[in-house]
Order: sequence, then structure tokens, then C-alpha cells
Amino acid sequence: MTAADRWNAKYADWHEPGPPSEFVVGHADLLVDCATAVDLAGGAGGTALWLAEQGIDTTLVDVSERALEIARSAAGERDLLLHTICADLEADPVPTPAELTRLAASAVPQGGWHAAVCTNFLHRPLLGTLHALLAPGGIAFVLIATVDNLLYNARPGRPFLVERGELPGLCAGLEAVSFDEGWFGQRHEARLVARRAD
Ligand SMILES: C[S@@+](CC[C@H](N)C(=O)[O-])C[C@H]1O[C@@H](n2cnc3c(N)ncnc32)[C@H](O)[C@@H]1O
Repeated sequence: MTAADRWNAKYADWHEPGPPSEFVVGHADLLVDCATAVDLAGGAGGTALWLAEQGIDTTLVDVSERALEIARSAAGERDLLLHTICADLEADPVPTPAELTRLAASAVPQGGWHAAVCTNFLHRPLLGTLHALLAPGGIAFVLIATVDNLLYNARPGRPFLVERGELPGLCAGLEAVSFDEGWFGQRHEARLVARRAD
């Protein structure tokens, strides 16, 4: 079974996008100068739609066409513009901006996005290429549960968790604006806000 099959099955009985990431919403002040944003593995679009509601030209990337359909439908109902790209972000090599452009030219701004979001999706090689998706000075918001989360939660399983202190080092070419690790409610998470260095 492919990742697309697995995730299309998970989203089969979803009909609404769900809420935006409170981590991203909590940093709204850092988004005021952003004209474009991408949410990577953004699922049914809760965060992407919130970004679009802020007036940001937003692209949602996910492997699940079903999740993208839910997001597009909600965008239509809310009268929002939302670009979507169905792509396997775990492909080897990780899709480059050129490859994403090939999939959906109008969804990829020339020169990179001003903001990139990646929450609850861990593919280490992707995090290493975030800088290439961002415009110079662009900002990334990355949130991943850590191995400590296993103390109280069986899921996500170990392959989907970062080690403590690992996250900033995975995001090559980005300079940390803030890095927090700890219990956020019931989950132990690593939360990184970082800017493209050059
Ligand atoms: C745990 S959900 C997180 C969704 C959203 N980012 C959030 O924080 O609520 C993981 C998402 O990754 C997507 N996904 C899984 N494998 C993927 C892949 N290989 N390429 C792109 N997206 C993938 C799934 O479809 C799903 O929407």
C-alpha cells in the first residue's frame, strides 16, 4: 500500500479541514510581511486555510488527493484562493521547487515562498531542503513530537518522532528564531521557528 492509499483511507470519512495549528496561529506576528506560504503535508488544510484567510497566497502540499479535495471544498465555501499540489514528499530525491513547479506551475512562486509550515510530518531529508523552498529571509515553522512523547502516548510511533534537541540540526541553511521543546498539553513536541539564512 502506498502512502497515498494509506492516507486517502484515513481521510475517507473526513469532511472538514479541522482547526489550524495553534503553533502557527500563535506566531501570526511573524507572518505579517509574508505574501506567500506553503504548508507541507498539510493534510485537509486547517492551517493552509487559516493562512489564506490572513490574505497570504497559500499552497497546500500533501500526498492525499482526498485531503486536498476536502481543503479545496472548504476554500470554495469560504471564498478563499488555495493552491494545492498532490506530491510525495518522501520521494527520493525530495521534490525540488522545479519538480513542484512541474506539478503545478501557478502554485509555486518564483524565488520561493515567504513562509513554509511543516507540522506533524517527519521526513528528515525534506527538512534538510526547506531552505530551498523559501525565499531569502523566508520563515519556517516546524513542529514534530519528540521521543519523550512515548512516555504517555503510543502514537505517533518512534519513526515519526525526533530525538530531543535534534530538530534545529535537521533544518540546514535555516537560523533558529525560536526553539522550544517540552510538554504542550498532552504532547511532548519540538517547535522550531527559523529563517533562511541568506
Ligand atoms: C499526521 S498528518 C499531519 C497533517 C497536518 N500537517 C497537521 O499537522 O495536522 C500527516 C500528513 O502527512 C501526509 N503525508 C503522509 N505521507 C506523505 C508523503 N509521502 N508526502 C506528502 N504528504 C504525506 C498525510 O496525508 C497527512 O496529511
